[in-house]
Amino acid sequence: MTTSNKIKSYDLDYIWHPFTQMKDYLNEEPLVIENSDGVFLIDSDGNRYIDGVSSLWVNIHGHKVSKINSAIKKQVDKVAHSTLLGITNPSASLLAKKLIDISPKGLKKVFYSGDGASAVEVALKMAFQYWLIKGKSKKSKFVCLKGGYHGDTLGAVSVGGIDAFHSTFKPLLFESYQVSSYDSSDLTISELKTLFSEKADTVAALIIEPYVQAAGGIKVAKDGYLKEISKLCKKYDVLLILDEVATGFGRTGEMFACDHDNVTPDILVLGKGLTGGYLPLSATITTNQIFETFLGDHEEMKAFFHGHSYSGNPIACSAAIANLEIFEDEKTIIKAKTTIKIFEDELKEFSGLKHVSGIRNKGLMAGIDLKKDPKNDVSYELKDRISKKVCDIARREGVLIRPLGDTIVIMPPISIKQKELKKLTKSIYKSIKEATENES
Ligand SMILES: Cc1ncc(COP(=O)(O)O)c(C=O)c1O
Repeated sequence: MTTSNKIKSYDLDYIWHPFTQMKDYLNEEPLVIENSDGVFLIDSDGNRYIDGVSSLWVNIHGHKVSKINSAIKKQVDKVAHSTLLGITNPSASLLAKKLIDISPKGLKKVFYSGDGASAVEVALKMAFQYWLIKGKSKKSKFVCLKGGYHGDTLGAVSVGGIDAFHSTFKPLLFESYQVSSYDSSDLTISELKTLFSEKADTVAALIIEPYVQAAGGIKVAKDGYLKEISKLCKKYDVLLILDEVATGFGRTGEMFACDHDNVTPDILVLGKGLTGGYLPLSATITTNQIFETFLGDHEEMKAFFHGHSYSGNPIACSAAIANLEIFEDEKTIIKAKTTIKIFEDELKEFSGLKHVSGIRNKGLMAGIDLKKDPKNDVSYELKDRISKKVCDIARREGVLIRPLGDTIVIMPPISIKQKELKKLTKSIYKSIKEATENES
């Protein structure tokens, strides 16, 4: 057997892929990504694909970025890992300072984990214990939004609001208050007002994805929304947790989505793009006020009893430092403004397609909804597999994307060049047209 065939056959024999119906997967030939070049992923046959969803929303400056590569190599030659439990390492320390420098004013302490869901767990436990220490043990519940997504661990699922992903696990979850999604109405604010006025004394925190509910289908809040939400939380003494795992690191056009409204949360959750899309690393960042609440004598047992084996891993932290240096050196956020303008112009074209029922974006995060009959609000059926058809055609066109239900997601690396961006959007346009118009 050739190496290439061996890889495919071992994959089919031994890997259970995440968020994948394996019955379908096992009937198709696996796509093996073996190499990369900027925004391109390259398969084992040498075919090149634009990474249209930033390798599941993580990639920032493209692949094989020399500065990040060499930062990792340099670190490996010193030490690959040592624990952060009770001791430290240079990369974790230097990165923490960099993160505080770019975080909204008032955030002062960084708690490291490995992935987004773990960082969300940290935020929830931190908020819960904070109120406990302050003698307000009744403030133990969380408020979340319908359509929200914060990861797949049980705490994160307990504050999730996507039935398709979350309802199966309901018997395992703790109860949360849920209010309407912010996508198109003011419902969230009015429901929050009512909920807080009646129940704030039982609420530890509100957790939301600021401005874009990503996994919920790229649902976008209207401008100024976050400010109102932040004011309400302050008024009712409810902590605000902003989950910027998907929106962070320039994806929405500012370093963080909360920068659009100059809002400082009590707890900020970062992941995905933190290492430029290289290595698993996440951070839960909070204020001195929360941090200091946990200070006490050993026997008071106020320490935050949470940690992960790889918290503050030096290689991941080195990658993250290099990632942030590129943001500074290349003025990534400023440059992204031009890219976003072009992206928005390109997105307008999609309204000309017969089966496109909605187009939304915030910065470089976009969702294009497909419907069988948009005029009469008729959705495709599950068995139509319409978005899979679109993605299969896109793959033939040299573009890798992954949908959310019948929403086609486009989320390219922020570094994408004009020409590449146009190739990406035009290929997706063509794929939607072919999949939907040949079908009906
Ligand atoms: C907003 C948000 N929070 C948390 C997560 C979970 O991150 P991870 O997949 O790294 O656990 C995600 C993942 O998509 C996300 O979009």
